[in-house]
Amino acid sequence: MPLEEGKDPSNVTRALPNRFFPSRLLQFFGLFLVLGIGFSVLSIRYFGVQNALTITTGFQPYSEETVSLDRWIKPPSNLMHTMSDKELFWRASLVPRVKDYPFRRVPKIALMFLTRGPLPLSPLWERFLKGHEGLYSIYIHSLPSYNAKFEPNSVFYRRQIPSQVTEWGRMSLCDAERRLLANALLDISNERFILLSESCIPLYNFSIIYHYLIRSRYSFMGAFDDPGPYGRGRYNGNLAPDVNITDWRKSSQWFEVNRKLAVNIVEDTVFYPKFEEFCRPACYVDEHYFPTMLTIQAANLLANRTITWVDWSRGGAHPATFGKSDITEAFFTRVLEGRACLYNNQPSAVCFLFARKFAPSALEPLLQSASKYLGIDP
Ligand SMILES: *[C@@H]1O[C@H](CO)[C@@H](O)[C@H](O)[C@H]1NC(C)=O
Ligand SMILES: *[C@@H]1O[C@H](CO)[C@@H](O)[C@H](O)[C@H]1NC(C)=O
Ligand SMILES: *[C@@H]1O[C@H](CO)[C@@H](O)[C@H](O)[C@H]1NC(C)=O
Repeated sequence: MPLEEGKDPSNVTRALPNRFFPSRLLQFFGLFLVLGIGFSVLSIRYFGVQNALTITTGFQPYSEETVSLDRWIKPPSNLMHTMSDKELFWRASLVPRVKDYPFRRVPKIALMFLTRGPLPLSPLWERFLKGHEGLYSIYIHSLPSYNAKFEPNSVFYRRQIPSQVTEWGRMSLCDAERRLLANALLDISNERFILLSESCIPLYNFSIIYHYLIRSRYSFMGAFDDPGPYGRGRYNGNLAPDVNITDWRKSSQWFEVNRKLAVNIVEDTVFYPKFEEFCRPACYVDEHYFPTMLTIQAANLLANRTITWVDWSRGGAHPATFGKSDITEAFFTRVLEGRACLYNNQPSAVCFLFARKFAPSALEPLLQSASKYLGIDP
């Protein structure tokens, strides 16, 4: 005897089979009746109207209703959208919860150029990217008044995003960086997000840089705890308890983050108002907001070092700019050789993937030496 029946001490149901059976039967037929009526009403209203439309306008029923996966995974064809920042950040913060992608996702690196206007070193970048279509995407945030004039065959053609005026050391600079991240997040295939300027150059060929980033367990945010006046000295007690002085970090503005951290930055509404109010010059918010926030939220994902080389050895408020006469063999040796850092917890001699700052006059000698010193094909 089945266990369920054995547990039931009463025989009431089984004692009244004749009264039970017809009522179930009635319910059963009743359901069919309701469904039948429902379908006839629907078909008259829906197909009747559709047929009329088809006859009178040649309208194709269903074609607009078809939703395929493409709709969710194809990157936007036009970067010049009409969304406000608020709308854009909301849209960019939508994250899938199923871990595996139901399609073959080839991860891309997003090169995000924060510029005033022109990209004088673009020929070098064009050469660097040649033949690697599908593995990168480009985004440019420039002055809203700047009219880019790239040819349709350029990798920079129509890669400008809706931009706003930025001010050095102010929150508007972080806004621009968040805008770049948010636009890049709209492409589900972008996995690593690199902030670059018009004076940056790549230090290796595409394959090396791509694999270095894609295989890295950590994001390259140069977060460090500086006890001096330009570090902890800029901390404002009003930031507590959201940010304590032990969480306070400093970093160069030129970061690299993975998709998860990019979402953290774009979705933030907790730290943003605090930093906006309590980190103003001489607290330079672009040097503290992201590294501090990410140290609180995801310290275990940060490499705490930058991949963008810059030369502070000349002293002063700004790093050195390199022009035509600086691009020599000795220069490449200085930048590339004798490095030591940790990559995925292992010692590595490849530490910097990009370098700044290079003047437009450096372009010609850079193009001439790119093959020999940077391994970038002519
Ligand atoms: C800052 O310190 C307070 C008091 O010790 C603590 O409650 C708070 O969680 C700390 N904040 C962070 C971000 O760790
Ligand atoms: C980076 O620093 C944080 C503390 O700020 C630490 O928790 C983390 O492990 C460090 N990352 C690496 C790769 O050592
Ligand atoms: C990239 O550079 C490395 C090291 O210089 C070299 O071994 C590799 O062949 C280069 N890859 C391409 C695609 O040029």
